[in-house]
Amino acid sequence: MPPQELVERLKAFGQQHLLAFWDGLSSEEQAQLEREIVSIDLELIQSLFKGNVDQPDWAAEARRAEPPPAMRLADRQGCGQSVLGLSPEEAKTSGANAVAGGTIGILLVAGGQGSRLGFEHPKGMYPIGPVSNATLLEIHLKKAVGLSNKYGTSVPVYLMTSPVTHDETVAFLAEHKNFGVPESDVLVFCQGTMPAVDGKTGKLLMAGKGELFKSPDGHGGTVAALAASGAIDHMKRRGVEHLFYFQVDNPIVPVCDAELVGYHLLADSELTSIAVAKQSPGEKLGNFVMLGDRLHIIEYSDFPDDVAQQRDADQALKFWAGSIAVHVFGVAFLERMLGYKDALPFHIAHKKVPHVNANGDLVEPSEPNALKFERFIFDLLPQAARPIVVEYTEQECFAPLKNAPGAAKDTPEYVQRFMIDQHREWLAAAGVSVAEGVAVEIDPTWAVDATEVAKRLATGSEISGTTITEPTYVGG
Ligand code: UD1
Repeated sequence: MPPQELVERLKAFGQQHLLAFWDGLSSEEQAQLEREIVSIDLELIQSLFKGNVDQPDWAAEARRAEPPPAMRLADRQGCGQSVLGLSPEEAKTSGANAVAGGTIGILLVAGGQGSRLGFEHPKGMYPIGPVSNATLLEIHLKKAVGLSNKYGTSVPVYLMTSPVTHDETVAFLAEHKNFGVPESDVLVFCQGTMPAVDGKTGKLLMAGKGELFKSPDGHGGTVAALAASGAIDHMKRRGVEHLFYFQVDNPIVPVCDAELVGYHLLADSELTSIAVAKQSPGEKLGNFVMLGDRLHIIEYSDFPDDVAQQRDADQALKFWAGSIAVHVFGVAFLERMLGYKDALPFHIAHKKVPHVNANGDLVEPSEPNALKFERFIFDLLPQAARPIVVEYTEQECFAPLKNAPGAAKDTPEYVQRFMIDQHREWLAAAGVSVAEGVAVEIDPTWAVDATEVAKRLATGSEISGTTITEPTYVGG
């Protein structure tokens, strides 16, 4: 018989079905199921299902939104009327000093699988380098090495996994010795999970007879996971004051970009974000908007079409600012947010969730049957003091790997084209041309940006002043 206390606990929320197969479980399985049940906030799950939790009505919010003030491209080129009054040159210097001073860390979220790519491993293990075949993780970690080389300092990497990607990611990094990042500079930590409920009844779904279905709690789980893993203590010991945050799926992120970090510091911002100008109203990017005097991101899936279609007098999209999920966070800000249990709302998604039914049979639904609950890290924006948005071009910073070959955008081929074009441009600016149609890729440990490429080539390299005519991994 299951412990009476457990039965009572479940009964109070109509979830007794979780114990339906109790008698057939081994004692270890019973103990494990009990632990899982006890760890769940049944009251919260019930409130989320019944809609009793204060949930923003995003569509209504979008209808009263205004576009955000931002540092636009023209402002960055020194020819705009910067509403934020920030100087690009001062920003570059200030940001570079901060990275060199060791106060900037990297926060990389890598909780996703490559399922949409037909790759049943952590997405970070997807090989994407157009010449090197380097994986996403290799590219990101080598950028940390490249930054350390450039600034003569170490840049710690805080890497968040999820229960589905953790073990494989840890083994992969160990096998490759963190791609050159010293062990003391890498901290891998796992995000939390949330259960899912049946969309009609609110009953928790089971993945097996003794196991609840659970999935990652969204990257909003990062804040709690940073604290629970000891990462925040690690930052404090190391003097890390700000984190450069990005997603594992984008290999062309200008990691710890001095200019972006500099704007963050000059504006005394608690949260600074990159925006790109959306190419079309329906682009799958979170939308930066002002709601009253607060900056928010409204996710594309919550943003009504008619609002996305609105245009200003110049026919440009009114809500032009798309989020590429690159942010700079103050560590003190994240710590402050830890004190607010409900700083981040839950987003509810209708999804297909395979589960065990009342007969103990595995059901593979063909239509969305379940509600999943996730928190998004960008919902911290309205809590941040003096947040700023800075516009970058896609070519500078955004080529996310989301889709399998054949899709219109964000495929491996699309991403590789951006990588090659970016590196071709850096080389061209330093006097090295690349013949038409030839793939080039720069080893990030050799150079992380155009300035570094120019420095390397100025001090003499076998390719200085030449034309590259065959696929080359420069510096590798
Ligand atoms: C995401 C953003 C969107 C942004 C776009 C840019 C969300 C909800 N939306 O959309 O605003 O414009 O990227 O590319 O993030 N991840 C975790 N743990 C989780 C969930 C996600 O680590 O629990 C990581 C994944 O590894 C992935 C990334 O976050 O790299 C993005 O998740 P994904 O589901 O691909 O979001 P998008 O719909 O592309």
